[in-house]
Amino acid sequence: MAQKPKTLASLSQEKTLQASFVRDEDERPKVAYDQFSNDIPVISLSGIDDVSARADICKKIVEACEDWGLFQVVDHGVDGKLISDMTRLAREFFALPPEEKLRFDMSGGKKGGFIVSSHLQGESVQDWREIVTYFSYPIRNRDYSRWPDKPEGWIRVTEEYSEKLMGLACKLLEVLSEAMGLDKEALTKACVDMDQKVVVNYYPKCPQPNLTLGLKRHTDPGTITLLLQDQVGGLQATRDGGKTWITVQPVEGAFVVNLGDHGHYLSNGRFKNADHQAVVNSNCSRLSIATFQNPAPDATVYPLKVREGEMPILEEPITFMEMYRRKMSKDLELARLKKLLAKEKEELKNVEKANLESKPLDQILA
Ligand code: OGA
Ligand code: NI
Repeated sequence: MAQKPKTLASLSQEKTLQASFVRDEDERPKVAYDQFSNDIPVISLSGIDDVSARADICKKIVEACEDWGLFQVVDHGVDGKLISDMTRLAREFFALPPEEKLRFDMSGGKKGGFIVSSHLQGESVQDWREIVTYFSYPIRNRDYSRWPDKPEGWIRVTEEYSEKLMGLACKLLEVLSEAMGLDKEALTKACVDMDQKVVVNYYPKCPQPNLTLGLKRHTDPGTITLLLQDQVGGLQATRDGGKTWITVQPVEGAFVVNLGDHGHYLSNGRFKNADHQAVVNSNCSRLSIATFQNPAPDATVYPLKVREGEMPILEEPITFMEMYRRKMSKDLELARLKKLLAKEKEELKNVEKANLESKPLDQILA
């Protein structure tokens, strides 16, 4: 068994992909990282607080949420300088020597810090990414000892970034609340005390990108996610359970907004939870910064609005923690069943082969 790498830096230089990153054929990329699609709408938020422009913007957002659970926003009011500082510092962090990054190693269950190719327990294939993550809200739970102190300026910039993104997320949640015919505050109130977690994803260039994924197919568990990506490309979405995929066109300075499971349940399934993954490439590395807006762990998950003729998509109210636990155990069970099926297929093949070998030649040719 090959030794687990400390970081991906050295593996990125090899000619072939280490076996632990090789995915089953059905999970491998189907569309290239740079074959961009314009199916995901890019929506300008300019004038969102003016009565006249608001209705039109809201309509576009709601359509996108019903369609894909995914859209991009521009003219969102987050300062361009803040965005470029954030991405520059993030890149500088990943360029640090392995031992510097590993000072914040979070394997072993630490809350926040650096980790290589995290994946689900029980899922044996690794993702081709490194991450650095920090829990930014509620503020009283911040643990600055888990926030990297390098590069210089990181903490100050990430604090400001978190605050501005919290503001933008709340604005978008207001729109969705109104679209559901509810009070503007309904969705944020349903989160009780909103959690925010920022995950900076670094996808090094990869020797055999067609055999692996930067981040396996998933839906985000929370309410809404704001993703900042660079111009490389690699974020992909599917609406048909993974049969066909599109690659989201990177737009300079835009945030990709995607709805998570919590948003999906609160809207009683009207708004989709975006089904997505990230692919990698052999030409260059890629950086993305995902800001997850989640409800408090003990917030209740249940549809806020069940429209006429609809049934609630949840049998009973559950806590967000319980929702997350069920999601994880379902994923683990699926991974287990998949492994079992592959094993049975293999055994069947061996039996057939043995049968064939034991037959006399004239019978095989007959
Ligand atoms: C995520 C995510 C996609 C990307 O971090 O949950 O979906 O393109 N990231 O990095
Ligand atoms: Ni995601």
